Amino acid sequence: MDTKIFEENKIAEAAEIIQAGGLVAFPTETVYGLGADATNERAVKQVYAAKGRPSDNPLIVHIAQIQAISPYVDNFSEIAVKLMDTFWPGPLTLIFPIKEGSLSSVVTGGLSTAAFRMPNNTKTLALIKESGVPLVGPSANTSGKPSPTTAEHVFHDLKGKIAGILDDGKTVVGLESTVLDLSDPEGLPVILRPGAVTKEQLEAVVGTVLIDQHLIEENEAPKAPGMKYKHYAPNAQVQMISREKRNWQEAIDWAKKQQLVIGLLASRSVLETFEEQVDATYLLSEQGLVEEATQELFAGLRFLDEDASQVAVIFVETFSEDGLGAAYMNRLKKAANQKYFEEQ
Ligand code: TXA
Ligand code: MG
Repeated sequence: MDTKIFEENKIAEAAEIIQAGGLVAFPTETVYGLGADATNERAVKQVYAAKGRPSDNPLIVHIAQIQAISPYVDNFSEIAVKLMDTFWPGPLTLIFPIKEGSLSSVVTGGLSTAAFRMPNNTKTLALIKESGVPLVGPSANTSGKPSPTTAEHVFHDLKGKIAGILDDGKTVVGLESTVLDLSDPEGLPVILRPGAVTKEQLEAVVGTVLIDQHLIEENEAPKAPGMKYKHYAPNAQVQMISREKRNWQEAIDWAKKQQLVIGLLASRSVLETFEEQVDATYLLSEQGLVEEATQELFAGLRFLDEDASQVAVIFVETFSEDGLGAAYMNRLKKAANQKYFEEQ
């Protein structure tokens, strides 16, 4: 199959493919998604196949207006209404209990709940409206790889496997939406995956919000099935450099002794100090801001992994875990398999 790149004037063409049961990747403010008609079981199955995704990992249903959820969800709590009004369209996914049988178990992974999100991207909102159906949209990467933040990343992973990609340049946020579980009507909202809508921002609107224990304790089973899989992992090994130790020099010396090809993913100031000593670099942030680093993390991991010098170890800068830093560090720790560089 030839994978077409659709410019923005080709939304109608992309929508026709969706209606015919085909797969089109779409841009969002977070990462690119792999779109298919959520009401077409055959199309949804192809999404799992194209990504190589385990079938027990449910998909997010993307909608362009709140009313589009009503066939699936009975009634919204006051909290849900406030969250949708405040954060949609935007990088927040909400989990609701669904009407029995209203969505295919291929979408829900057999759960009695489903995830919904209204992405903040005008082209994709137009694509959903034009298609006339909600779209499933897992991140448009091969399962296990870093999520795609450009159409080129999608093309790299899925060319030949999907009909097309709606190109809208680089995504703004750079990592996936916050997933918030609202499925217990008596209970408090629970963050299953941290993202650009932070715990602090959610609490300012609805009061106390919990964090899934798994995100804190290593051996707890995660409530979002996707969080249990190996993720965001390039082929090279990834090691984090602690903010307190800032032991970049020791890390480089150690890797040289092992004769490893070295990549650095760090802020301008770090690269300026160490770039002469390493094989490849990628600028994570100009000014050392976590917002910049979040936008570049996945792109940087992919870049260094593809570099001609065949990087074997990537040392990556870390940030404080509050606010957006919680999401950045969650993804980086997964990519690094929790590993900080330690002096030997
Ligand atoms: O930003 C995003 O959310 C992107 C863009 C494309 O919208 N999409 C995305 O989808 O990241 P995906 O499939 O890569 O991640 C969805 C996450 C997975 O961890 C999945 O297990 C979880 O949401 N999830 C989906 N439905 C769920 C449910 N009913 N209960 C708990 N977790 C659920
Ligand atoms: Mg994903």
